[in-house]
Amino acid sequence: MSQLLIYNIKTLYSNNNLAPVKGKLMQDISSIDNAYIFIEDKIIKNIGSGDYKHLITKDTEVFDALNSIAIPGLVDSHTHLVFGGSREHEFSKKIAGVDYLDILKSGGGILSTVQQTKEASFEELYNQAKKSLDIMLSFGVTTLEAKSGYGLELETEIKSLRVLKKLKENHPIDVHITYLGAHALPSEYKTRREEFIETIINDLEVIKNEDLAEYADVFCETGVFTATETKRILSKAKALGFKLRVHTDEIDSIGGTEVALDLEAKTVDHLMAITDEDIKKIAKTNTIANLLPSTSFFLNKEFAPARKLIDAGAAVSVSSDYNPGSTPSENYQLTLQISGNKLRMLPQEVLTAATINPAFSLDLENQVGSLQVGKQADILLLDCKNLDYFIYHYGINHTKFVFKNGKLVFKQQQELI
Ligand code: NIG
Ligand code: FE
Repeated sequence: MSQLLIYNIKTLYSNNNLAPVKGKLMQDISSIDNAYIFIEDKIIKNIGSGDYKHLITKDTEVFDALNSIAIPGLVDSHTHLVFGGSREHEFSKKIAGVDYLDILKSGGGILSTVQQTKEASFEELYNQAKKSLDIMLSFGVTTLEAKSGYGLELETEIKSLRVLKKLKENHPIDVHITYLGAHALPSEYKTRREEFIETIINDLEVIKNEDLAEYADVFCETGVFTATETKRILSKAKALGFKLRVHTDEIDSIGGTEVALDLEAKTVDHLMAITDEDIKKIAKTNTIANLLPSTSFFLNKEFAPARKLIDAGAAVSVSSDYNPGSTPSENYQLTLQISGNKLRMLPQEVLTAATINPAFSLDLENQVGSLQVGKQADILLLDCKNLDYFIYHYGINHTKFVFKNGKLVFKQQQELI
C-alpha cells in the first residue's frame, strides 16, 4: 500500500456537483484554503485544511506543494493528436484572407495532412504524437480524447488508431480514442459520395471488431458531410456500440446538432454557428456543448455563444481541438484563457468546462474531473495566487507539478543558464 500526502496547498478548487454540471452550477466551485490531499493507492482518501500531521505514518510519503493552488487534472476532450507533417505552408494564405473551406476545396487543408499521414510510418506518427502528448501533460492535461481522421481510407485510419492505442498503453495521459473516418471527402470520391459513405459504414464494423475506438465522429459541415449523411454514419456507429461525438455548426448550421441530439451523442463540438433553437434543445439534454475557442482564434472566426448556452442551462466543456490546420497548438491553458476572454466565461465556469464536464462526456465522471474523496488522484498544482489569476495571466504555462494516479509525472524546472 502506498500513501502520499500533498500539503501546503494555498487553495484547492473543484466543482463537486453531480455531472453534467449545467447552467448556473458551472460557477459553483468549492474552495479550501491551506489544504492537503491524502492519497492511498492512486485514490484520494482525504481532503482537508490545516493540520494534517495525524494522517502521517511511517509509510507516508510527504510532498510540499510550495503554496501552489490545486485543481483537478485537466480533461481535454477534443483533439486530433495523430497526423503526419504540418501545414505552415498554408499560413500565409490564411493571413492573406483565403478561407479555410476554400483551402480544403482546392485539395489543401485536411487533404494535405491526409497525404502526409499516409506517407508517414507508424514510428514517425507515434513519435510526433508522443511529443505533443508530452507537451500537453506539461500544461496539466491528464485525460485526453484523440481522434483519427487523416487517413480517409482504412489502412491509414487503422495505423493512426493503433498509434493512439499504443500511446494509451505507454503514456501517463489517459487517452480515449475516437474514429473520425468521415473527416473530409477524399478527392477521388468527388463524384462518388455515396460510395465513400458506404465504405465508412463498412469500415466502422472493422474498427469495432478490432476494438480500436470507443467513439465515432463525423465532420458535418457545408462542403464536407451533410446532416443526412452524418445521420446514416452515426446511426450505424451507434448500432455497433460506438459512443458518439460530432463536429457540427463550425461554419454553418446545417442540421448536425439535431442529428447528434437525436442520437444522444456525448458531445456536439464547435457550435460557432449554432441557432438559438438548437441552444434550447441542447439545454434539455445531457449532451455536452464542447466549445473550441482556440480554433476560432486561429481561424479568425466567430466565437461560439458560450454565454447563451450556459444561460440557457446547457452543460459546456471547452477543448483545445489540437490539429495541424485550425489549431496548431497543444497549449490547453491558452484555450482556457481564451475561454475567459472571448467566450466570456467566468474563471469558475472555465474550470468546470475543463474538468468535470469533459470527464462526463468521456464517461469518466466517477473517476476524474473533480478533487473529491474516492476519485483518482489526478492533480494539477499551479504557480498561481488564485483561480482568477490562472485564467487572467495568459499565454504562459502555470504548471508547477502534475500528478497522475497519485504519481508525480511532471515538474516545472526553472533553470536559467
Ligand atoms: O476540428 N473541423 C474539422 N476538423 C478539424 C480541423 C482539421 C484540419 O484542418 O486539419 C477541426 O477544426
Ligand atoms: Fe476537431
